[in-house]
Amino acid sequence: MSSVLTGITTNGSPHLGNYIGAMRPAIKLSQETESFIFLADYHSLIKQQDPKLTHASTLSIAAAWIACGLNLENTVFYRQSSIPQIMELNWILSSITPKGLMNRAHAYKAIQDQTKGNDKDKNVLMGLYNYPILMSSDILMFNAKLIPVGSDQKQHIEMTRDIANKFNISYGDFFNLPEPIIDNEIPLLPGIDGSKMSKSYNNYIDLFSNEKKLQKQINQIKTNSLEPGEKKPRDSFLYKYFYCFSNKDDLNKYDDLFDDGASWGDLKKELFKLINSEIGDYREKYLSLIENPAEVEEILVDGESKALNIATENLKGIRELVGIRAL
Ligand code: TRP
Repeated sequence: MSSVLTGITTNGSPHLGNYIGAMRPAIKLSQETESFIFLADYHSLIKQQDPKLTHASTLSIAAAWIACGLNLENTVFYRQSSIPQIMELNWILSSITPKGLMNRAHAYKAIQDQTKGNDKDKNVLMGLYNYPILMSSDILMFNAKLIPVGSDQKQHIEMTRDIANKFNISYGDFFNLPEPIIDNEIPLLPGIDGSKMSKSYNNYIDLFSNEKKLQKQINQIKTNSLEPGEKKPRDSFLYKYFYCFSNKDDLNKYDDLFDDGASWGDLKKELFKLINSEIGDYREKYLSLIENPAEVEEILVDGESKALNIATENLKGIRELVGIRAL
């Protein structure tokens, strides 16, 4: 059976980009497919070094998954850090991964490009450099086949395939070669400044703030100086939001508004209504879970015991293949 796996880094509260890129598609798949959904808390240590934030973010992202309707019957739901086997696999995979492969990672190259002076690596944390190997370990630990991610993560899945393939050739077939599930219909959701929505760029819109703040953040989405009455372009950032949040019929309605020259301000009010109608009920559920962390904890502990069983079994096979004493 093809299982689905995806995770979100716990470096803040969830934003609309997480929802569109990972949560919404994975939750849809979880209705009919065995799924592994996890909180990438070890990945978050690379992005920020604030223990309180990491801790709070884990609850917040876990609560968001549950609130948005993750099917807990079909899903193994866990914290990455609760499965130490992932870290062990990380070493095994590091041992066969060429440095040259990691040199090609977009996230690594982006930091190099931003660094002035001769030593382009001076701001590159080893955790960031090795990030794709940890991500491969997350995926291969459970031999997952389908990985719903935003298109920015495509390269990481390709690297996972390369690493899995190298392992299979060196030691014997063990790993599935995973495939990304990228909805090409759905563009990467831009942040308020138009670049990819990300905590790292501080350009995000919270998934679950209150209504007032949601409208306020939507108002910050960058537009241009076109006046009311002038046709608004489809390649605007704002249009991408309408595209991501509406079904076909609704989109026709918004197309008309854009063509007929609605003002940016009115379009932003419409966008608020559209987004809020999709997430409003989830917000209620989310807030109740945040008030009851024990409920979230119970769900995670249950998921972690299932994940541990599978990871222990798989790691046993992997250790045997590489010639390390089986546990
Ligand atoms: N790198 C992903 C992101 O930043 C998070 C992640 C970590 C992930 N491990 C994963 C996603 C494994 C899919 C599969 O969005």
